[in-house]
Amino acid sequence: MKDKIDELLNEIESFTASSKEHVEELRIKWLSKKGKVKELFDEFKTVAPELRKEVGQKLNELQNKAQDKINLLKETFEDAGDPKADDRDLTLPAEKMAIGSRHPLSIVRNQIVDIFSRIGFTVSEGPEVEDDWHNFTALNTPADHPARDMQDTFYISENPDILLRTQTSSVQVHMMENTKPPIRTISPGRVYRNEAISARAHCQFHQVEGLYIDKNVSFSDLKQTLMYFAKEMFGEETQIRLRPSFFPFTEISAEMDISCPFCKGAGCNICKGAGWVEILGCGMVDPAVLDNCGIDSREYSGFAFGMGIERVTMLKYQVKDLRLFFENDVRFLKQFKSA
Ligand code: DAH
Repeated sequence: MKDKIDELLNEIESFTASSKEHVEELRIKWLSKKGKVKELFDEFKTVAPELRKEVGQKLNELQNKAQDKINLLKETFEDAGDPKADDRDLTLPAEKMAIGSRHPLSIVRNQIVDIFSRIGFTVSEGPEVEDDWHNFTALNTPADHPARDMQDTFYISENPDILLRTQTSSVQVHMMENTKPPIRTISPGRVYRNEAISARAHCQFHQVEGLYIDKNVSFSDLKQTLMYFAKEMFGEETQIRLRPSFFPFTEISAEMDISCPFCKGAGCNICKGAGWVEILGCGMVDPAVLDNCGIDSREYSGFAFGMGIERVTMLKYQVKDLRLFFENDVRFLKQFKSA
């Protein structure tokens, strides 16, 4: 019986078939209930017990091999298919693959980084989970300061020292504590405030902080830097104006408006007829802040500014509802193309 199996194994090796039907004939001849393999299994009952193990293994091998070979032949014919039944037109252009696009906030953040890096600003980052010192106290905003009320803070735990940063100004403090002037850096990042979500406010948004510390830095350096930024971001014809303001960590402080990018100053519903739109806060770093962070205010001075990335993006692309940035609706997102 062993010899017979060997013979059949060889026969299987040389199986060929010319059509699907031919493969089916082979299957019936070999693997059906009346096929050759079944016949041998019947005969197996007569094999002497001491030979059963060896013959049994061989028989299984034969069955597997026949099955594999027949499957293989079957696949060959299935793949080839019937050319008449195949209506695929291989000359048709391929369907376009949907590829994602950059988020509008990332596009604008990258543009801001690019504009400032061209005039020597580095990019720095700080933690989103902050301590009170870096977010408030070092920035001249002690616990009882009324300016804290403007920034409804999320506290992480019962410990009022640990919070989600409300402003990227906290990165200024890290930079000043850890770097010897001159410092010229911008710090983009996410900030959090406990605000009701509406078209104009959100509990999370993004800011970019700017900081320049050196000997003899003046307010005119600040003005020129911001004018350069406004023109690069919104176009050469853009005008700026600075209005006196207050921030605890700058003295003097100002808010900057740009001429409305939509009506070019004539007055429209975006600028509510004013011709100007507010874009950022800025000022000369308060000497007390420099000293808090280990920089000698008698030797160094500096300026700082901070702006909301959502605000810049809304003005640049005429987006009217802040919530759109966080809903991830692809119909909104795919309208923005990065340069
Ligand atoms: N941190 C301020 C805010 O969140 C923005 C700001 C204003 C940053 C003036 C500055 C600055 O660096 O000088 O409202």
